[in-house]
Amino acid sequence: MQSLNIEALIQRPLLMVGGKGGVGKTTVSAALALAAARSGRRTLLVSTDPAHNLSDIFQTRIGNRITPVADGLWALEVDPERELDQYLESVRRQMLAYAAVNQRPALERQLKLVRQSPGAEEAALLERITRIIVDEQGYDLVVFDTAPTGHTLRLLHLPKTMAAWSRGLLARREKGGRLRSLFAHLNRHAKENPFNTDGGEDASAREQKLLAPLKEREARFRTAAEVLLDETRSGFLFVMTAESLPLQETERAVKALQSQKVPVAGLVVNRLLPEMAADITFLRGAYRQQAHCLEKIAEQFSHLPQRHLPLMGEGMEGIEGLEKIVGELRASPPAAEPPVGR
Ligand SMILES: Nc1ncnc2c1ncn2[C@@H]1O[C@H](COP(=O)(O)OP(=O)(O)OP(=O)(O)O)[C@@H](O)[C@H]1O
Ligand SMILES: [Mg+2]
Repeated sequence: MQSLNIEALIQRPLLMVGGKGGVGKTTVSAALALAAARSGRRTLLVSTDPAHNLSDIFQTRIGNRITPVADGLWALEVDPERELDQYLESVRRQMLAYAAVNQRPALERQLKLVRQSPGAEEAALLERITRIIVDEQGYDLVVFDTAPTGHTLRLLHLPKTMAAWSRGLLARREKGGRLRSLFAHLNRHAKENPFNTDGGEDASAREQKLLAPLKEREARFRTAAEVLLDETRSGFLFVMTAESLPLQETERAVKALQSQKVPVAGLVVNRLLPEMAADITFLRGAYRQQAHCLEKIAEQFSHLPQRHLPLMGEGMEGIEGLEKIVGELRASPPAAEPPVGR
């Protein structure tokens, strides 16, 4: 089993950190981001989890704005609900511009329904995630804390769906365009050409304007998908604890990503009990289960580079806590020798 090389890991421009609830995603992603910043890489750490705790770790209010939190390190807490509000507001503005006055109440009603529909928040979140992946070029590394596996998989399929929508709209537009030019041709010598009035020009310009954001979005999602599939530009890092539920969930997520050719960069097994736990009556059972789970992890994930992180005692708060994790990530022995169960 290969040991996960932290220095190599933070050389990629994009790192997605995923895993089951509570296993240490925020801790590990913040520690990696800090390590990258310390080694001189301009780094952006992004949380997409509504229950943010980057603000707590860095003892700075972060929220929805890119905020400096340490030398060479910036953080952002994306709020899915707020993203949805902003997203719907921009859609509303775009559509109101093209809706007749008597259509507006219906449009407003529709938008209210969209707000409550399943998947709306995800759509808004993907909008923001793809913008960060594609537009935030000022950083050497962007780390996503709580990489949503399901969202990522859907993101990969969206460019095709979007292309189909745009093509459909374009086809309709083209048809209109062809009709217009046909009439224009027939009427070339006739003074009265209903399609050659300024109304015709306006309609075409308006359609172009309406299509522009769609085309932009499709191109952006396509680029984001390309980045996510390119192992020189991005990687998924899984964090888990040596317990059966995180093991099952990580197995599923790794398989799902790999079946779509998303590069999985490695695995961090967190909060490991030390060997001495085997000698403590109270912890013996837990230690045995951990050893059993570690054997399974070695078997199931033999193809993935791995790191083990010990369960730490006190002093996990703030940047100092992160520094300790960074030290452990760099120093921890290769995961090749899991502690043996007794
Ligand atoms: N190796 C460790 N030793 C001791 N405590 C740890 C370790 N790793 C993480 N923790 C602590 O465990 C708690 C959960 O960690 P963290 O918030 O990073 O998990 P998470 O996967 O981001 O959780 P969530 O799914 O709720 O976002 C935190 O209090 C953190 O300080
Ligand atoms: Mg978290």
